[in-house]
Amino acid sequence: MSLAGRQVLLGVGGGIAAYKAAELVRELSKAGAEVRVVMTAAAQKFITPLTLQTLSHHPVGVDTFDLQQESTISHIDLADRSELFVVAPATADLVARLALGMANDLLTTVALACRAPLVLAPSMNVNMWQHPATQVHIQTLRGRGVRMIGPDAGDLACGWVGAGRMAEPSEIAAGCATVLGETQTVTQDWAGLSVLVTAGSTREAIDPVRFIGNRSTGKMGFAIAKAAAARGAKVVLISGPSELATPAGVERINIESAVEMRDAVMSRADVQSAIFKAAAVADHRPAQVALQKIKKQGAASSLELQANPDILAELGVRKFGRVRPVLVGFAAETTDVERHAREKLARKHCDLIVANDVSEAGSGFGTDTNRVMLVSEGGVDRLPLLSKDEVAHRLLDRVRSLVKSA
Ligand code: C5P
Repeated sequence: MSLAGRQVLLGVGGGIAAYKAAELVRELSKAGAEVRVVMTAAAQKFITPLTLQTLSHHPVGVDTFDLQQESTISHIDLADRSELFVVAPATADLVARLALGMANDLLTTVALACRAPLVLAPSMNVNMWQHPATQVHIQTLRGRGVRMIGPDAGDLACGWVGAGRMAEPSEIAAGCATVLGETQTVTQDWAGLSVLVTAGSTREAIDPVRFIGNRSTGKMGFAIAKAAAARGAKVVLISGPSELATPAGVERINIESAVEMRDAVMSRADVQSAIFKAAAVADHRPAQVALQKIKKQGAASSLELQANPDILAELGVRKFGRVRPVLVGFAAETTDVERHAREKLARKHCDLIVANDVSEAGSGFGTDTNRVMLVSEGGVDRLPLLSKDEVAHRLLDRVRSLVKSA
């Protein structure tokens, strides 16, 4: 992936690794990026703005309220013109402030105003990195689609050994190129539209330890969220437990059970142009959830179940405030795929069913490829075996034509 001609904003935090920011500016510039730099007050104790200004050939932003700087290029201009915002080093303090959405200096103010993908290269003492507060902030940021590069493990400047060392500048620059590559040259035909995607499996608790689940990994739903965001949509991804990283620029809401998924979907359903229900939702849940772990001795030999809400069917008959979103359901089948898909299309009142035979090799759960058919009232469109990313784009092409023009 090339950085040639791309506008990269580098935010430098106040940690010892700030000295490596100079090398990072060089790496990014060498790869062709136009680099602008903003620094926190603490960063200036480790490296001077003059160094980074000399290397980047642009004035370095250090103060939100600097009249001269604001008249040359305002903090909003900085945010607007950047195609990627990379913060290196991202100290524990900066990670916390970014997670909380604070805007109490230039760097965090620009971050809040910036719509470009955010990449962080964390750098801190191992105990600060492992502290639950930091880890919660990191999860929050990941949940918003922020990418993390590092930290690496090794000897730390503070004398400790462990995770916390900032990734090497060359690795950070390569990560920036990858993230930019994902958003490059993709048509922005979903710009101004909102999309809701559900992904993964649900977990229906039996007791505090056990649950009923299924084999869905979330790959298809995550691919749709990623593709929609890359094409300019505002995406909310409602996901069951999944190991997958949140795609850049996607807002992620984690849920466990079908009931939680229903509540999350309904609370966000009204403002969407399209809803993709890629999640494999459990049809049933245990009628009773035991408050304590059920012991082997004396456990009942059968489990009483009750039906879960059918979220898609509920959406199908919902009175939407504004325009009805295009409703896309998924059907994972092992036999009679087309017949089942047609039946679902009618029963759940949706606009399109993406159906696949999960018993076919290379199709279905956990694979990176899928062979699907798009079933609508108008007929069936059979797609070849494609990567899930490619399926996502083909699906978005089709659904975009069904969305009433914004
Ligand atoms: O009926 P079936 O589960 O095969 O339908 C699959 C489609 O319905 C998927 O889009 C799935 O997300 C959705 N669904 C749902 N709520 C359920 C069960 C399935 O939204 N309880």
